[in-house]
Amino acid sequence: MTAKIMTLLGTRPEGIKMAPVVKEIERTDNLISIFVNTAQHREMIDQVLDLFQLVPEYDLNVMRPKQRLEELTMRLFQGITPILEKEKPDMVLVHGDTTTTFVGAYAAFLQQIPVGHIEAGLRTNHMYSPFPEELNRQLVGRLATYHFAVTEANKQNLLKENVAEKNIAVVGNTVIDALLEITSRHYQFEGELASIIHSTKKTILVTTHRRENIDELKHVYRAIQRIVEQHEDVQVVFPVHKNPLIRQKVMREFVDMKQIYLIEPLDYEEFLHVLKHCYMVITDSGGIQEEAPALGKPVLVARDTTERPEGIDAGTSKVVGTSEEKIVALCEQLLRDEAAYNEMANAPNPFGDGYSAKQIVHTIQSLAEETRAIYQRNTDEVIYR
Ligand code: UD1
Ligand code: UDP
Repeated sequence: MTAKIMTLLGTRPEGIKMAPVVKEIERTDNLISIFVNTAQHREMIDQVLDLFQLVPEYDLNVMRPKQRLEELTMRLFQGITPILEKEKPDMVLVHGDTTTTFVGAYAAFLQQIPVGHIEAGLRTNHMYSPFPEELNRQLVGRLATYHFAVTEANKQNLLKENVAEKNIAVVGNTVIDALLEITSRHYQFEGELASIIHSTKKTILVTTHRRENIDELKHVYRAIQRIVEQHEDVQVVFPVHKNPLIRQKVMREFVDMKQIYLIEPLDYEEFLHVLKHCYMVITDSGGIQEEAPALGKPVLVARDTTERPEGIDAGTSKVVGTSEEKIVALCEQLLRDEAAYNEMANAPNPFGDGYSAKQIVHTIQSLAEETRAIYQRNTDEVIYR
């Protein structure tokens, strides 16, 4: 007897972090993989799926330029529900905290299909930071039956919310699986990126996209502008997120483009190699806080909170918020003080060892074994319910 596992994803980071899981399910004999791309992102998810050579069984194509979260939510429900009705999976896997994740989990719950939540238990406990992701992940914590936590601290967060310990597995973060797979491939920079990256200047890699940050980003950008003005030997590479609201801000704030390269989102492989070559990172991204320590790069987190305190505790990242003065001061320190730089760069990566997808799929298989004995009496098809 086999179990049908439906994986739902739609944004760039979900694609990157779920790719190792989908591949592992596909490789496993007694699991049938149904992979649904909601395409909450379009170009940015397509880049990822091409790179990992993943072809979804369904593509919901829900992205519309600048659509409100309410519209996105509606489109997702309308798209996901009929697929659940048709496919009747034994389990739905969702990842993290996006709108795709929340709607996917809730739609599955309404059909009483068990949900497995990957990257479970991250919390800031500030409802609007990040917005709307903190509430999404808390709600999915209630809706899910199985919780794949990244760290022991994430597990503790779930236990505090009365999640049953037997339903939590600590498995690390699948982003490290993805990173190790992609960086093991031969790669060479090409075109303009090659000449930027091979310059003798120190590169600061910048990304920003958080909704709750949008009005404050001008302070971050001014700090960056000041840093390049003060350091001729520093350049900034800034792949700008496709969100038009972010693009407007970036274009408005960077007036003098000397030493600043605003570029299109890089495909994941290019991005990892830029990360590998850069000196340090300024970002409000979640995933990059996890990848940078795996490649020995200090991270300044341009947000007021982080749900990844493991990076702070390990010494690899510092929360700087959107304060211009704080960002300038910490960059100055990292650019001038070798000991301070090395302390952050050499801090250990607390987010995983590259075997997370295997552990997740192994857990799913043993859940299937456990529940099979109980439920086989009722039906030959449904394993988990
Ligand atoms: C979403 C997630 C966020 C995640 C981020 C990763 C939610 C609420 N937020 O935020 O948790 O960190 O993805 O990047 O789910 N756009 C394009 N092409 C693309 C992608 C986006 O044009 O390939 C534009 C569209 O106009 C879209 C807008 O960006 O409406 C915003 O996209 P959306 O998915 O709503 O939010 P993100 O800010 O990307
Ligand atoms: N990333 C990428 N190209 C880029 C910028 C980021 O492939 O130009 C990758 C990055 O390596 C990480 C993920 O996108 O794995 C992070 O996505 P994002 O910052 O959009 O979302 P978050 O992680 O904050 O949810």
